[in-house]
Amino acid sequence: MSPVIRPRRLRQTPAIRRLVAEHRLHARDLILPLFVREGLDEPVALSLMPGVLQHTLDSLVDAAEHAVEAGVGGLMLFGVPERRDATGSAADDPEGILNVAIGRLRAALGDSTVIMADLCLDEFTDHGHCGVIGAHGRVDNDATLERYGQMALAQASAGAQFVGLSGMMDGQVGHVRATLDSAGFTDTGVLAYSAKYASAFYGPFREAVDSQLQGDRRSYQQDPANGREGLRETLLDIEEGADVVMVKPGLPYLDVLARVSDSVSVPVWAYQVSGEYAMIEAAAAAGAIDRKPAIMESLLAFKRAGAQAILTYWAAEIAAELS
Ligand code: PBG
Repeated sequence: MSPVIRPRRLRQTPAIRRLVAEHRLHARDLILPLFVREGLDEPVALSLMPGVLQHTLDSLVDAAEHAVEAGVGGLMLFGVPERRDATGSAADDPEGILNVAIGRLRAALGDSTVIMADLCLDEFTDHGHCGVIGAHGRVDNDATLERYGQMALAQASAGAQFVGLSGMMDGQVGHVRATLDSAGFTDTGVLAYSAKYASAFYGPFREAVDSQLQGDRRSYQQDPANGREGLRETLLDIEEGADVVMVKPGLPYLDVLARVSDSVSVPVWAYQVSGEYAMIEAAAAAGAIDRKPAIMESLLAFKRAGAQAILTYWAAEIAAELS
């Protein structure tokens, strides 16, 4: 029997494979998350994420400039404050580490890249939750919205071009959009971490931001059992005015990513989180997988599932190779 249809014809040489490839990675598809820590004299290497640092303000600017030269599409900034309290007051303090760092990056880089900041209280609260705790002992949704609004104003004033809402409070996109607009920040974009799951894959991030969290985030982040709900959350965020939506984590939620990207007309991004990074690095260090092809395959999977851009801790390294 000789088959008439031979899909292998299109796989014969690298040149043919390149020509028929459905998806390609570009440096500009990659967004680099960066950590800046208050009160550091020297950058600190993270033990759980080899190659990732907590930066000083100076080393942050160097790393950002290097990443932009490498061709990344944008930067996502996280701040680690020295002092924390119940309401996360350092989060909207113009002298708070995250806001100062946004200002430093914007001054150094202008519009040559896209500067985004994580908008969430967990790095700033002494209890490590993403919002303020109400009288009932749980995260108080609407009181938290007020704090997010104040944080958005501080980040926009400091020069953030997008605020990255990652707290999973109901109504957060609408509230932040209205707060920004009424203060005249109509051009500041809202990136909504729309379908964000309560995930074990955030493990190494806890070290990166020195998290104080006891317990878990299951009363606000989504249940990994729910796929349709990821679409519901995303559609709500778009109705409330999200400019870009995101699915997070990445590889374990490619089904959600594909469903979202088939259903919406705003840009859809994915976040390849700390645990995904740590997992591939550890497997590669153990000799179980070939590091670079595994990274490339994981990034391409996001594109195939419908992501236009990917937040990944490998952004600078891989962008340099692609551009
Ligand atoms: C919230 C936030 C988290 C991450 C990004 N933004 C932690 C969480 O929700 O528990 C995780 C990112 C990662 O694991 O790489 N500020």
